[in-house]
Amino acid sequence: MHAYAKSISAKRSMAELIRAEGLTAGYGDAVVLDDVSLALDEGGSLAVLGRNGVGKTTLLLTLLGLTRLKRGRIAFHSDDITRLPTWRRAHAGLGWVPQERLMFASLTVEEHLTVVERPGGPWNLQRVYKLFPRLEERRRNFGNQLSGGEQQMLAIARALMTNPKLLLLDEPMEGLAPIIVQELVKVIGQIVRAGEFAVIVVEQHARLALGLTTQAIVLDRGCVVHRAASEALLADPATLDRLVAVA
Ligand SMILES: Nc1ncnc2c1ncn2[C@@H]1O[C@H](COP(=O)(O)OP(=O)(O)OP(=O)(O)O)[C@@H](O)[C@H]1O
Ligand SMILES: [Mg+2]
Repeated sequence: MHAYAKSISAKRSMAELIRAEGLTAGYGDAVVLDDVSLALDEGGSLAVLGRNGVGKTTLLLTLLGLTRLKRGRIAFHSDDITRLPTWRRAHAGLGWVPQERLMFASLTVEEHLTVVERPGGPWNLQRVYKLFPRLEERRRNFGNQLSGGEQQMLAIARALMTNPKLLLLDEPMEGLAPIIVQELVKVIGQIVRAGEFAVIVVEQHARLALGLTTQAIVLDRGCVVHRAASEALLADPATLDRLVAVA
């Protein structure tokens, strides 16, 4: 076994879901992430914080296999997924709510949900409609006939339909009206606390993300500059403001 793979399995605890070690990755020749490591247990939650352009999205894309990985390893359950194509990572249980939401004008709300449905877990159409009644009301609307908040609900619901083991949420509150943010925080909080799957939340709204999670990392220029329990970071506004300069 490769020495690196060995160190991954040696440190793995029973409940560990994902472990990324020494991720150095970027686009083409540009290196954006520098030696980033993280680990998360089954049902756990991690906030990824940091200012604009520090590499938060690139970290999620790297876990999904959508960047150019120069160094590092990713273990999911006991499997080394470092070299797996994205679709196989999705099958293994990585769910993704992209920053751009990526809705299709040619599909209805319900079609968005049913085309990705992967049975075998607790999530199905009935359950996502229960979580987001608004989507049931809009089930015959097309992707381009939705408000920003509805699109974000659909992006989350779509990921849930794949019955993920790990849900990657990229700035789920971005650009939404405060009342919608409140509604989404409530719903995301519910699913995170239920612990049916693990969650990594990338957020500019650091306090919201810390309120939703138990662990946090802060990125700066592609490096992890801080690791903490979410609660501890939330209780230390001076450190939080220094790291992410939130209002
Ligand atoms: N497709 C790409 N090709 C080249 N460089 C990219 C690409 N996407 C992002 N970058 C660069 O990588 C760096 C990190 O970008 P990334 O999108 O990961 O940051 P972020 O923390 O998610 O920012 P934001 O808060 O604005 O979403 C930036 O300097 C950005 O310009
Ligand atoms: Mg981003």
